Amino acid sequence: MKPHDDFTTLITKDRQDRENFKTMLSCVLPRPIAFVSTISADGVANLAPFSFFNAVGSNPPAVIFSPCTKADGTTKDTLNNIRQVPEFVVHVVPYDIRDAMNRASFPSPPEVNEFETAGFTAIPSRFVKPPRAAECPVHMECKLIDIVPVGDGPLSANICIGHIVCFHVADGYLLEDGTVDVEKIDLIARMGGDGYATIRNRFTMAKPNGPSPT
Ligand SMILES: Cc1cc2nc3c(=O)[nH]c(=O)nc-3n(C[C@H](O)[C@H](O)[C@H](O)COP(=O)(O)O)c2cc1C
Repeated sequence: MKPHDDFTTLITKDRQDRENFKTMLSCVLPRPIAFVSTISADGVANLAPFSFFNAVGSNPPAVIFSPCTKADGTTKDTLNNIRQVPEFVVHVVPYDIRDAMNRASFPSPPEVNEFETAGFTAIPSRFVKPPRAAECPVHMECKLIDIVPVGDGPLSANICIGHIVCFHVADGYLLEDGTVDVEKIDLIARMGGDGYATIRNRFTMAKPNGPSPT
């Protein structure tokens, strides 16, 4: 191990938000992807991926993810739904559902149900109102603990903290020791830009053009 001789210091308050965003995303990686289902008070289900996501504790088992405020200052359907119905389901994303996950990320009006537009099968949850996506092998039903805003303008964070009340693991994925088979599940993670990674390889996937059904 050798110390670096020199460093370039980028002072965040002297840079555009976008520049900080790009620098941050290129060095905080690979980021796991939460594929999150929510439901509005009117009963419209929603699915969207979030890579500002992680597990943060196990007593209680808890996750966080952040649906950021959009560039125009409005909030995403996922956050609006959680404010109405404070529950969500986090699904993990294997390589074979990457295209459908990407389709679900297309910005759609609140009346659009991405289970339908992205081609997922909605099945009922046990303890929460948002449905689950049957094509995903692991689901975590979560009750909202809190929403913590960080900033208040465009691109600001809205950290949603959830208590995992149950895991659903598809047949064949759960090992005897209670862990999930990481070889079989073949999860993807997000790099910077259009970059993604599996545990072994990297690949790219451009942003979707529209929510064409499968
Ligand atoms: C892999 C991936 C990860 C993403 N991560 C985030 C994220 O962490 N936070 C965020 O605000 N948007 C993220 N997005 C964009 C949202 O998925 C996108 O804005 C989506 O339309 C939000 O849907 P909603 O308005 O139905 O909540 C990500 C998109 C992709 C494809």
